[in-house]
Amino acid sequence: MGELNRNDPALINLESQQFMNITIKNICCIGAGYVGGPTMSVIADKCPDILVNVVDVNKERIELWNSADLDKLPIYEPGLKEIINKRRGVNLYFSYEVEDKIAEADMIFISVNTPTKKKGFGAGQASDLKWVERCARQVGKFAKGHTIVVEKSTLPVKTAEVIKKILQAVQPTKNYQKKKSFNVLSNPEFLSEGTAIKDLEFPDRVLIGGEDTKSIMALNNIYRNWVPQTKIIHTNIWSSELAKLTANAFLAQRISSINAIGALCEATGADVREVSRAIGSDNRIGSKFLDSGPGFGGSCFKKDILNLVYLSNYFGLPEVANFWEQIVKLNSWHQHRISELVIKKLFGTVSGKKICILGFAFKANTNDTRESAAINICNDLIAEGAILFIHDPKVESKQIEIDLGKKENKEIKDIKNLNAGNYEGNWCLIKNIIASCDGADAIIVLTEWDEYSKLDWFEISKNLRKPAWVFDARSIIPIKKIKNLNLNFWRIGDGSDNKF
Ligand code: NAD
Ligand code: UGA
Repeated sequence: MGELNRNDPALINLESQQFMNITIKNICCIGAGYVGGPTMSVIADKCPDILVNVVDVNKERIELWNSADLDKLPIYEPGLKEIINKRRGVNLYFSYEVEDKIAEADMIFISVNTPTKKKGFGAGQASDLKWVERCARQVGKFAKGHTIVVEKSTLPVKTAEVIKKILQAVQPTKNYQKKKSFNVLSNPEFLSEGTAIKDLEFPDRVLIGGEDTKSIMALNNIYRNWVPQTKIIHTNIWSSELAKLTANAFLAQRISSINAIGALCEATGADVREVSRAIGSDNRIGSKFLDSGPGFGGSCFKKDILNLVYLSNYFGLPEVANFWEQIVKLNSWHQHRISELVIKKLFGTVSGKKICILGFAFKANTNDTRESAAINICNDLIAEGAILFIHDPKVESKQIEIDLGKKENKEIKDIKNLNAGNYEGNWCLIKNIIASCDGADAIIVLTEWDEYSKLDWFEISKNLRKPAWVFDARSIIPIKKIKNLNLNFWRIGDGSDNKF
């Protein structure tokens, strides 16, 4: 496209007319996870003429996507079940017939997991691309005719080159009838969990990176069914891949920055909410993503920054790598700082003490616990012998068992005098917060679920063992509700002594 500005509306109009002939009729998305499921549901909803197949090797997950009871979908996202109800079986299908659905598709989204490598070269930093590579090989083998392959997963810069090479290598060359062709695009996803449907329906921007104009416009025109053209950005493929990593790094950087300042606020008598408001009203800084909390979680921030660290080192830029690595180090330090602070306030020991944990998901409105701050904080407290009564509206016991590496002990729910027995380091999942607080020494709010801000603290305070502590790592408890209840209260980043 030479010197032309790809985002010039005039050019885009021209291109749309010129390439109207590429119309996508059949999409296959490989990976029915937190991105694949919601993204394809919204595409199916906005593009009723396109048949959308979401495939996954995980049969159990696919069966949950197909469950008649929409409360059993594998992913909880506000607004998702309503769309599934409307489109599933109409133009949206979930299946584990990966090969067949690849063969039928004219556009394939790769939306598989890209976690940090656990072993080998680059372990602990580089992305493990084995799932992406497997997809590329499957696509190369089973696709028919011309297929546009779209990177939806978050990938290291230059992955498109690897995908292209794999696709080229598996093409049959002799029989003309069987000849296949591919174009690879990068179309990273910017949705946040908990607001995924809103983010997909009203995106700040859609990013499409690629070299082939026809393919770019084919994808562009899918989004045009509901996204204004001015919000669709076209770049070269490497800028698109790198922009995704950069966006997450910048967002995570803001959280580590404000959490670092929060610790300083606690030490100096300042209040991080006031500091956030003061700096956020500067237009250049902006007010979003300045809430101090228990440290960022989620499957992506840490992995994407570590990937950036790996890439920077790989390209001989250790200073750049060190700069970004510090964001992750501070986040980890901050989470352990909270555990230590709780232990200190409870007279230096939590051994045999009952502590209620409110929230296990990494943020509100999701059942996702990946990299949740709750995992590190609960593990620290369990290691110190605390007895944890954990509440979360959406997270299931089996997930917490995996995350903590420890089985739930349901029996402890009914034991009256826990401190007298030998239950150190046990945990259970609770439903009724007020009843479960009976005899607890502390409550720690770790996820900002709305219901926690509406709790009846008068009732709760009656049940706690005094002197009792409430730790609010999300700043969601209204101070006036906790005032005069004979409770010790700590909240994140609050160094002021006028809380009551
Ligand atoms: P996920 O683990 O929830 O889902 C990935 C799915 O891919 C799994 O169900 C897995 O079984 C399936 N899969 C893996 N290899 C497969 C194969 N060869 N064939 C068929 N299925 C296969 O992951 P996710 O959270 O949806 O993330 C996917 C990608 O999107 C990652 O690269 C992530 O960084 C990126 N991303 C995630 C989010 C988010 O909010 N979770 C947001 C933006 C981008
Ligand atoms: C994040 C990005 O916001 C998305 O744009 C991106 O697509 C996604 O990662 C991804 O690539 O996976 P997500 O992790 O779902 O989305 O959720 P966020 O709202 O970004 O929250 C991440 C973590 O930061 C949570 O633990 C949250 O509680 C924490 N956070 C967020 C704060 O502590 N303070 C804030 O002000 C904002």
